[in-house]
Amino acid sequence: MLTADIRRRFLDFFAARGHTVVPSAPLPTPDPTLLFVNAGMVPFKPYLTGEQQAPWPRATSVQKCIRTLDIEEVGRTTRHGSFFQMNGNFSFGDYFKREAIAFAWELSTTPVAEGGYGLDPERIWVTVHHSDAEARDLWRAVAGLPERRIVARGDEDNFWSMGVPGPCGPCSELYYDRGPALGREGGPAVDEDRYMEFWNLVFMQYERGEGPGKTGYPVLGELPRRNIDTGMGLERMATLLQEKDNLYEIDETRPILSRAAELAGIRYGADAESDVRLRVVADHVRTALMLLADGTAPANEGRGYVLRRILRRAVRSMRQLGVHDPALPELLPVARDCMAPGHPEVTDGFARIADQAAGEEDAFRSTLRQGTTVLDTAVAKIRDAGGRVLPGTQAFLLHDTYGFPIDLTLEMAAEQGVDVDRAGFTALMELQRERARADARARKQGGTADTRDLRRVLDTHGPTDWRAWDTLTTESTVLAVLGPTGPLPAAREGEIVTAVLDRSPFYAESGGQDSDAGRLTGAAFEAEVIDVQRPLPGLITHQLRVVSGELAAGARVQAAVDPDWRLGARQAHSGTHVLHAALREVLGPTALQSGSYNRPGHLRLDFPWRTALSGTVRGEVEEAANRALRQDLPVGVRWMPLSEAREIGALALFDETYGEEVRVVEIGGAWSRELCGGTHVAHASQIGTIALTSEGSVGAGLRRLEAAVGIEGFRYLARERDLVTRLSEHLGAPRAELPERIAGLLDRLKATDRENARLRHEATAARAAGLADRAVDAGGVRVVTTTVESGADEARALATAVRDRLPARTAGVVGVATGSGVVVVAVNQPAREAGLDAAALVKRLLDGRGGGSPAVAQGGGLSPDRITAALAGLPKLVTGP
Ligand code: SER
Repeated sequence: MLTADIRRRFLDFFAARGHTVVPSAPLPTPDPTLLFVNAGMVPFKPYLTGEQQAPWPRATSVQKCIRTLDIEEVGRTTRHGSFFQMNGNFSFGDYFKREAIAFAWELSTTPVAEGGYGLDPERIWVTVHHSDAEARDLWRAVAGLPERRIVARGDEDNFWSMGVPGPCGPCSELYYDRGPALGREGGPAVDEDRYMEFWNLVFMQYERGEGPGKTGYPVLGELPRRNIDTGMGLERMATLLQEKDNLYEIDETRPILSRAAELAGIRYGADAESDVRLRVVADHVRTALMLLADGTAPANEGRGYVLRRILRRAVRSMRQLGVHDPALPELLPVARDCMAPGHPEVTDGFARIADQAAGEEDAFRSTLRQGTTVLDTAVAKIRDAGGRVLPGTQAFLLHDTYGFPIDLTLEMAAEQGVDVDRAGFTALMELQRERARADARARKQGGTADTRDLRRVLDTHGPTDWRAWDTLTTESTVLAVLGPTGPLPAAREGEIVTAVLDRSPFYAESGGQDSDAGRLTGAAFEAEVIDVQRPLPGLITHQLRVVSGELAAGARVQAAVDPDWRLGARQAHSGTHVLHAALREVLGPTALQSGSYNRPGHLRLDFPWRTALSGTVRGEVEEAANRALRQDLPVGVRWMPLSEAREIGALALFDETYGEEVRVVEIGGAWSRELCGGTHVAHASQIGTIALTSEGSVGAGLRRLEAAVGIEGFRYLARERDLVTRLSEHLGAPRAELPERIAGLLDRLKATDRENARLRHEATAARAAGLADRAVDAGGVRVVTTTVESGADEARALATAVRDRLPARTAGVVGVATGSGVVVVAVNQPAREAGLDAAALVKRLLDGRGGGSPAVAQGGGLSPDRITAALAGLPKLVTGP
C-alpha cells in the first residue's frame, strides 16, 4: 500500500467518525518551547490544556514533524527518521479511552478491501501504563486481546508528555510482530525491532510541571477536560504494509536512496557502511526539502542551523560515497516527486528550494575546497620532511577556521596516506574551551565590584542624585572606588575600576538604551567612562578607565556626558519608538516589540512574527517611520499613575518593575505611547533619518529589524548610492537597467559554464571510450590503467567514465594516476561482487596511503613517478589472492 493511500485511509476513516480534517501546520512552530513541530498534537496544545476553546470536538490530521535529537542514529537503526509524518486523531473533551482504543483497533485490523490496513490481529501487541487497569480491561473487551499480548510498563515508556510543562497522561502503544527473522520472541519489552511500535494512544488528562525531561517531574493536577491525542507513524505503517526492513526503503524515500546509489555507482545492500550513508542521504535530503518548503533558510543558529547541519551531512555523505559533483540538484527533484502527492508546497516553492539548497551546497563545497588546499599544502610539507603524521595544530586550524569536522580531516588525510595526531587535536580543542570559559569569567569580573560592597556604599550614602534627564554635566564627589576585591583608596593610570558618585548625569543602560559615554575630570586625573549601570535600585555605578593621574575616593570631579554621544543616543531611542509605532501601523498590534537595543547611530528591534517581511512591507514600514519624522511629531514626557497609563493605552514593554508613578513617552500623542525611562529628542524631525539596514529571524517566531539612525542613516544611504554608481560605471549601464543587465550576465555565465562542462564531459567521454577498448585481461577482470596531467577531480571523472564504459556484465577495474601524485581507482559492480574493493586496492597499491568507498577510492603520498610505477602493479593485484 502506497504511503499516500495509508494517509488517505486514515483521514477518511476518522472523517467518517465525526472528526474534522485539519491540514498539517508548517514545521516551524511559534511554540516557544520548540523549534519545530515534533508531534501531531503540537498545533493543538492550547486546546488540550484548555487554554483555548477547541473549534471542534474531534479532529484528525497528518502532521509534518522533525526530530533531530538522535540525528546520529539516522540510517543506523531501522525506525528513526529526522522528518516523519504523524497521523493523529484527537478528542478535545469529547470521547476518551474506550473509543480511542476501538478506533485504533478497527482501522488497523479491518481488511484492506474494506478500507482498513489489514494488519493480522494475531500479531498485534499492546503496552499500557502499569497503573492503568482500565486500558488493560478495554483491550481485552474491545479487541479480545489475550493477557499475554498486553504488556504493562512504567513511566519511562508509557507516560507521555512533551518533555516540558504542558499536557500529559498515561499512554498505550500498539506494536506489530514483524516475524522471527528480525529478533527474539517475547513482545516489545524484549525486542523493539522485531516488534515495531506503530501507534501511540495518549490519554491526556493531567498537566505536568517543570522537570528534567521524560520522567521525574511533578504532575500538577487534572486538566479541565479529558482528551485523546494519538500518533500513528505514517512511515512506520508504510514500512509494515510495504513489508520493508526499514523506513528508508518505503515509496516516499527509496527513490532518493536509489538515485544516490546510482550517482555513486554502487548497489544498495552490497556494503553495510555505504548503506548507512545512502540511508542518511535519503533521510536528510527529504528533511531538507520539507524544511526549505516551509520557509526555513540555512543559518548559523536556531532553526536555520538545524537545516544547515542536515544539508551539510547529506553533501558530506555523498562525498564519502565518492560523489564529488553537486549532488542536491540531482536528489532534490527526486525527493520532490516522492513528497508532492501529500505536500503540494514542495512543488509550488521548488524553484526557490532548489536555489537555496544549491547555494548552501556550493558554499559548503567551497569551504571544503579551501580546507583541502590547506590540508594538501600541509601534507606536502610533512612528506618533504619525511613525516607521516599531520600535527594536531593543523587539524585544529582546519576545524577552527574552515569548519572541518575531525572525521573529515581524518578521512582526507588517509586518502593522502597520512595519519593525524588526534590527541594533539583534542588537547587544543580542550584548551580553546578552557580559554573561552576563562574569557567569559574575566569579562564578567573586569573592574566589577562585588554586590555586597555596593550595598554598603548605598546604605552609607543613600541613592545617587541622578540627573540624566536634565543635564549633561554635574559637579560631583567620588564616594567610593571599588575593585573586584573590595574598596580601594585610589586607582592609577591604566586601571579599570568601578566608581560611585554622589550625583551623576550619565544614563545607565536600561530599557534597551546603551549607557552614556563621557569623562570624569578632577584636579589630578582624567578618566573615561566605559559603562554605566544601575546594579541596585537607586544606585548608579560607573566603570572607568583612568586615562591619566590618580583617581582617589573623596575627590571632587566634573562629570560630563559626551554631548555628541547623547544626541545620537536620543535620536536612536526616539527612533526605536517611531519604528515600533510604524511597524504596528503596517502589521497591526500583534507586532509588539519583545526586545530592543539602541546606541548612537543604530537601533534594533525584535518582535514576534512568523514570516519574513517582504520588500514591500519593509518599504511601507520605513516610509511610515520617516513620514512621522517629516511631520515633526512632538515628543513629550509625562508622569502619571500606572493605572492611568494603562487606561490611555501606553505600552509596557519590559519586565522591569514600575513604581506607582510611571514615565510615559509620547510621540504624536497617542500615535506612540510607551512606558520608558530613556532619553529622547524633543521633536521627531531631530531624529534625522531612519534607514532599515536588515530584517531577519532571531529564533522561534521572532524577527529582528535593524536601522541606521540620524547622520548614520544618511551615511548608510549614501554608501548604497555610491555602490550603485560604481556598479553602473563598471557595467557601463544606466542605473535603472542594472538588475536586467546583471541577470543577463549571469545567464550568459551559466550558459558558458554549461557549455564548458559539456565540452569537458565530451572530451572525457571520448578518451574514456578509447581507453575502455584497450582494457587488458587480468585473470578474467578487465583492467585499465592510465595517467592524466592535471588533478584528482579529472582523474576521478575519467576513472568513473571508463569504468561505466566497460562491458556491463564483466568485472572491471580502472586506475588513473595524476601528474600531481594522486591515484584514483574505480571498480564496477561485477568486480565488487567478485570481492574487489576500490579502497582496499588503493591501500595495497600505496602501502596504506588512501581510502574511499568500495566503488571509488583515492590515494597519494608518493612522488608522481613512484605513483605511476605503483599503478602498473594494478593488473597483478587484481589477479592476486
Ligand atoms: N503525542 C504522542 C506522541 O508523539 C501521540 O501522538 O507519541
